[in-house]
Amino acid sequence: MSRPKNSGITGLQPAGAPAAPIAPGVTWPSAGGTGALSGPVLTGTVLEVRDLCVQYATDAGTVTAVDRVSFDLDAGEFLGIVGESGCGKSTLLFGIAQLLSPPAAITGGSVSFKGASLVGMTDKQLAVLRWKDMSVVMQSAMNALNPVKSIGAQFKDAMRAHGVRSSAQIAGRSAEVLRMVGIDPEHLKSYPHQLSGGMRQRSMIAMALLFTPDLVIMDEPTSALDVVAQRSLMVQVKELQEQLGFAVIFVTHDMSLVSHFSDRLMVMYAGQVAELGATRQVFDSPLHPYSAGLLDAFPSIRGPRVPLTGIPGRPPDLARLPDGCRFAPRCPKVMAACTARPPDLYQVDGVLVRCVLHSGAVSDD
Ligand SMILES: Nc1ncnc2c1ncn2[C@@H]1O[C@H](COP(=O)(O)OP(=O)(O)OP(=O)(O)O)[C@@H](O)[C@H]1O
Ligand code: SF4
Ligand SMILES: [Mg+2]
Repeated sequence: MSRPKNSGITGLQPAGAPAAPIAPGVTWPSAGGTGALSGPVLTGTVLEVRDLCVQYATDAGTVTAVDRVSFDLDAGEFLGIVGESGCGKSTLLFGIAQLLSPPAAITGGSVSFKGASLVGMTDKQLAVLRWKDMSVVMQSAMNALNPVKSIGAQFKDAMRAHGVRSSAQIAGRSAEVLRMVGIDPEHLKSYPHQLSGGMRQRSMIAMALLFTPDLVIMDEPTSALDVVAQRSLMVQVKELQEQLGFAVIFVTHDMSLVSHFSDRLMVMYAGQVAELGATRQVFDSPLHPYSAGLLDAFPSIRGPRVPLTGIPGRPPDLARLPDGCRFAPRCPKVMAACTARPPDLYQVDGVLVRCVLHSGAVSDD
């Protein structure tokens, strides 16, 4: 089977297709019933990312697309990641899921999933985790799904790859996950092109839940959908997350989506964490001028009507970063200290912020 393409980025490979057959003896706990569907899967920290660096080797030199990113994710937690195009969101997700391929490579840091280090794992070791413990849902389900296989056949491949042999189990679970995302199990017979865009995305999410993973990584899974379909899919994802207890990392351009659904929010700028904190806190009082600019660029759903201002200019070329703060050329609050040296990440009331305006706080770098 040919590898599906991702959303236009070479160097990144999504886990759109079922993993290669692995680990004989791996069993699927739900046995075709609802056993695996109830209650949180895990407690405590599910993912620890420390100083993760990802670089692309290009003709013009090396660019660091993810620059010393660190965060923890608790079981059942929903982390939203936002930032303009080219800020490194997808590269971070692919780095976490170990789906990078040349010219991209992890050049530093660590990713620990349920206590096991993912960086340096062999494909065979990773295949044991994919789908079963950790699933990835990409932006375009049409690219991630195999166009010449029915949805049911693709679910079956994924389950068989993880050692599920019983046809009754496979049929039962396939129908169950499709129903969970609001699709009639009749559509197990359908091919991707016979489904609407929303149904294809839902099918991908259903596939990601075949094994009740502890972590679901989603890279703009709703951006190809219209606003109504987007919202209804998000409501469903959130309900499933609360019901099944898996943690989510969710990348989006849509601030209103994360404001409603995420517990914590990471704002990325030019490959770095600009701000990281409780979503409510970041929305109510953004500390980084970039976060404030992003919020001003989105209409408030409930608040008074105010003109949208946006952020002038564009993120820097990662091969030619400005001196000091990477946001300085666009920042309305820039001052001399900003260009003197790169700002550290400071901790303010539990929120991390990379800005000299908060340099009186404790440095987290
Ligand atoms: N194939 C590639 N070769 C070289 N550099 C790349 C490649 N793909 C990405 N990059 C670099 O990595 C940076 C981050 O890209 P990435 O796709 O992770 O951003 P993103 O935040 O996901 O953007 P978007 O919102 O458009 O999806 C880019 O700005 C670019 O400098
Ligand atoms: S460090 Fe300076 S330029 Fe950078 S965001 Fe803060 S105020 Fe703006
Ligand atoms: Mg992206």
